Amino acid sequence: MIRIAIDGPGGAGKSTVAKAVAKKLDILYVDTGALYRTVGLYVKSKGVDPKDAEGVGALLPEISIEVKYEGGAQHVYLNGVDHGDAIRTPEMSMYASAVSAIPSVRAFLLETQKDIARKNSVIMDGRDIGTVILPDADLKVFVTASAECRAMRRFKELTERGQSVKYEDVLAEMNQRDGQDSSRAIAPTKAAEDAVYFDNSDLDFDQTVDAIIRMVKEKTGGKL
Ligand code: DC
Repeated sequence: MIRIAIDGPGGAGKSTVAKAVAKKLDILYVDTGALYRTVGLYVKSKGVDPKDAEGVGALLPEISIEVKYEGGAQHVYLNGVDHGDAIRTPEMSMYASAVSAIPSVRAFLLETQKDIARKNSVIMDGRDIGTVILPDADLKVFVTASAECRAMRRFKELTERGQSVKYEDVLAEMNQRDGQDSSRAIAPTKAAEDAVYFDNSDLDFDQTVDAIIRMVKEKTGGKL
């Protein structure tokens, strides 16, 4: 079993890179942000303010979240339904960020994440993987890039997905969300003490993937 933790702010390319690394190593890619996005989606469907800790906490007993890996891709089922890309909108990014600052939401999603890592070799991406979810990971990488660079990547990703957004709005939203995620009291976005800090502003996708594969090989030696 091998466990790799990838943390960092939004738009650093964590998910695409982790997905590619998972494929190369033939291990499971776990997108933990999707879980918070799914809780956000439910909260929105109920018309509850995502910053209202009590209101959100009261909804948790109504939520069942199941993660399945089908055809090499992660699917999150909310009360039996896979909502696909509906969790990927900029609005859901903000909902996810807001609900993820609520301790009861983090506690609610903790076991789901730990359970996946207990049963599989994984590369998990999130904000607190190296610090909370996989403190004993074989390798921890904190992936980041300049805010402008991250906003441009996110802008391209959204545009390619057919969403019509402005770069300036993506940048503003990204700064707001990162501020929220890294300043919150519980599990803020933070590099674990034993994480490799990796700024990929000047690297392209393939270079980032290669660098991480090299780190995995160095750290895990004969394990792979
Ligand atoms: O990685 P992402 O952009 O899909 O994450 C959406 C939000 O969920 C992010 O703004 C913060 C929260 N999140 C978190 O608090 N902890 C994680 N492990 C993953 C995501």
